[in-house]
Amino acid sequence: MSAEEIAKKIILRHFQSEKIDSVKVLGERLVIKLKAPEDNTKADAIKAELSAINAAQKINIVFVEDKKDKPTEPEHWIIKGVKHIIAVASGKGGVGKSTTAVNLALALANQNLKVALFDADIYGPSIPLMLGYENIPPSSVDGEIFEPFAECGIKSMSIGSLISEDTPLIWRGPKACGAIQQLLTQTDWGDIDVMVIDMPPGTGDIQITLSQKIKFSGAVIVSTPQDVALIDAVKGINLFKTIGVPVLGIIENMSYYICEKCGHRADIFGHAGAKKTAEKYRVDFLGEIPLHYDIRSNADAGTPIVQSAPESPYTKAYEQIAAKITEKLK
Ligand SMILES: Nc1ncnc2c1ncn2[C@@H]1O[C@H](COP(=O)(O)OP(=O)(O)OP(=O)(O)O)[C@@H](O)[C@H]1O
Ligand SMILES: [Mg+2]
Repeated sequence: MSAEEIAKKIILRHFQSEKIDSVKVLGERLVIKLKAPEDNTKADAIKAELSAINAAQKINIVFVEDKKDKPTEPEHWIIKGVKHIIAVASGKGGVGKSTTAVNLALALANQNLKVALFDADIYGPSIPLMLGYENIPPSSVDGEIFEPFAECGIKSMSIGSLISEDTPLIWRGPKACGAIQQLLTQTDWGDIDVMVIDMPPGTGDIQITLSQKIKFSGAVIVSTPQDVALIDAVKGINLFKTIGVPVLGIIENMSYYICEKCGHRADIFGHAGAKKTAEKYRVDFLGEIPLHYDIRSNADAGTPIVQSAPESPYTKAYEQIAAKITEKLK
């Protein structure tokens, strides 16, 4: 029996045959390659047994990585029961992303869809305020799976439930992604046709990670009409395009203001900038939402306008945008 064959017999006492990559005698040296994670205890045992029978002067055992041994990280987080997920994003903060996300989710629910809203804005989670469950922690029957909130006929959950306002900004980094993953994947959503995610503003690492890990059907970009917001909106469009998430279109929020007393229309932040940007970057323009007192006051009171004033022209504006989105998801 050759030294290689003897060595193989000994190795088989410690590893299955498919783990043996090669056994070679190179001069005085016996070189063993194993397709397994490094295991010094077993390597020492094999060496001791080979030395005891003088199989070779020197023995090298090398562990090479077997792809099968490597725990494969799933490409996307698995969010059970949810058919479509859309991101509501903005390059810039404060442009009305959350107000749009919540009213859009309610407008989608008005189309008889089962809708969920997830607040992933680690920098300023505001969905609990807008849906009226601020400072109420989510419940869990078994301590592992959360029950989503069910205000205004949609299921929802907010990262604000896990991080308080005084959580240091530094914690809101990669750790926050873990918290978002936990809340998204460990919530009993039930059957959901469309989940709307209120994304954190900006286009940094957190936004990139979330856009890669969440299997989005598409992204909606919210911008106000002025250039400073649109420059950042373009960054958002590019981020999603780079990652391969289809951009469903741009919404121009705070598009214009109509004075309730005299009917005068004022384009406070300019007007139609988002439409021009959409044309330039070849994405669809989904519609415009005016700046109106009722939109703000209802959002702040936990009674979003789509729910509290179903016949208002503002609700109709959100519903028209929602109809365009569902058409695109088909
Ligand atoms: N169309 C609108 N008309 C009137 N007020 C609005 C409108 N859209 C948003 N607002 C108000 O503007 C403020 C900012 O909106 P919102 O919180 O939705 O923005 P955001 O982009 O989510 O901000 P942040 O980046 O801080 O999360 C809120 O007080 C909201 O009520
Ligand atoms: Mg917000």
